[in-house]
Amino acid sequence: MAQEVRGVIAPGKDEPVRIETVVVPDPGPGEAVVRVQACGVCHTDLHYKQGGIGDDFPFLLGHEAAGVVESVGDGVTDVEPGDFVILNWRAVCGKCRACLRGRPWYCFDTHNARQRMTLTDGTELSPALGIGAFAEKTLVAAGQCTKVDPAVSAQVAGLLGCGVMAGIGAAINTGNVGRGDSVAVIGCGGVGDAAIAGSRLAGAAKIIAVDIDDRKLETARSMGATHTVNSRETDPVEAIRDLTGGFGADVVIEAVGRPETYRQAFYARDLAGTVVLVGVPTPEMKLELPLLDVFGRGGSLKSSWYGDCLPSRDFPMLIDLHLQGRLDLAAFVTETIRLDEVEKAFERMHRGDVLRSVVVL
Ligand code: APR
Ligand code: ZN
Ligand code: ZN
Repeated sequence: MAQEVRGVIAPGKDEPVRIETVVVPDPGPGEAVVRVQACGVCHTDLHYKQGGIGDDFPFLLGHEAAGVVESVGDGVTDVEPGDFVILNWRAVCGKCRACLRGRPWYCFDTHNARQRMTLTDGTELSPALGIGAFAEKTLVAAGQCTKVDPAVSAQVAGLLGCGVMAGIGAAINTGNVGRGDSVAVIGCGGVGDAAIAGSRLAGAAKIIAVDIDDRKLETARSMGATHTVNSRETDPVEAIRDLTGGFGADVVIEAVGRPETYRQAFYARDLAGTVVLVGVPTPEMKLELPLLDVFGRGGSLKSSWYGDCLPSRDFPMLIDLHLQGRLDLAAFVTETIRLDEVEKAFERMHRGDVLRSVVVL
């Protein structure tokens, strides 16, 4: 039988979010209902509310979550009721050309639940990134649930569902950061800090944090940055070269998503080095570079989708490393809040006051 729960809805473009009763159907074939225990507040939720990601209002916000599987539909074998899971928004299909080539982290046909959650009047909701987890319960595709060690707290586990995984993965998956590498990270919000933590985990010898805000640089240091550069005061390309024997970093991670910071990343890497773009640009942004420099500097220019993560491989591993004390995921949780405080959390995020506000249910 369908259930009624409380959830945070974005009703229309730029309207404040509000709590509504959400009708969650029983899971159909391949689906699962998850009792959400914690869900982080991400920029993407704010973009949905602002109308920046289509106009399929009303949206059921929230997508960075962990919880316990309550029920599963027919044919679900990977998870069962009672499992503690992190939700992901790239449930791999196993059949597309990327999956068939053995590169499922690029899956080109990721899927979500087939049924829709609704308001009590039957209005269909669009769940943020196919999840919708600012709610007591949510309906997802079973492949969006990844089992991890239940010894970790839900507020920490949920972080891996989006931004923190994107940053760690940008370093360890996309950038292939390894022992002894020099790394520079431009933009030290939640994503950039996670790239710093990931680089430290991977054994980078030098980790240079670049931001325009000194508060952010201070946090970056606590995450593992060995050097910091305020790019409002100092030319970051020069500074990164100076700190790397005049050459540039082996891997530069751009975690802002702007042409000017991408250009800095491009010129701050060593010959044959790697640039990873994990910051998300907006549609009007354009990049111009001398093609001869693209050729002459060699190496690789890569984008990182969701940290090129494979949830089934990466989530349990990172939770285990966290539990061993080798990856401080708890440092990303600035505050825990209630479901009715999401709007306030957006304001704090906008002011740059928090790494992550996490709704605890
Ligand atoms: N140079 C350096 N740092 C900058 C610049 C700049 N020109 N402009 C902004 N920053 C810094 C901000 O001071 C902030 O610390 O970039 C950081 C961005 O952090 P957040 O706003 O917290 O964003 P975050 O959640 O880390 O996401 C970063 O990745 O997933 C995408 O959409 C997301 O594009 C965004 C990026
Ligand atoms: Zn696929
Ligand atoms: Zn997100």
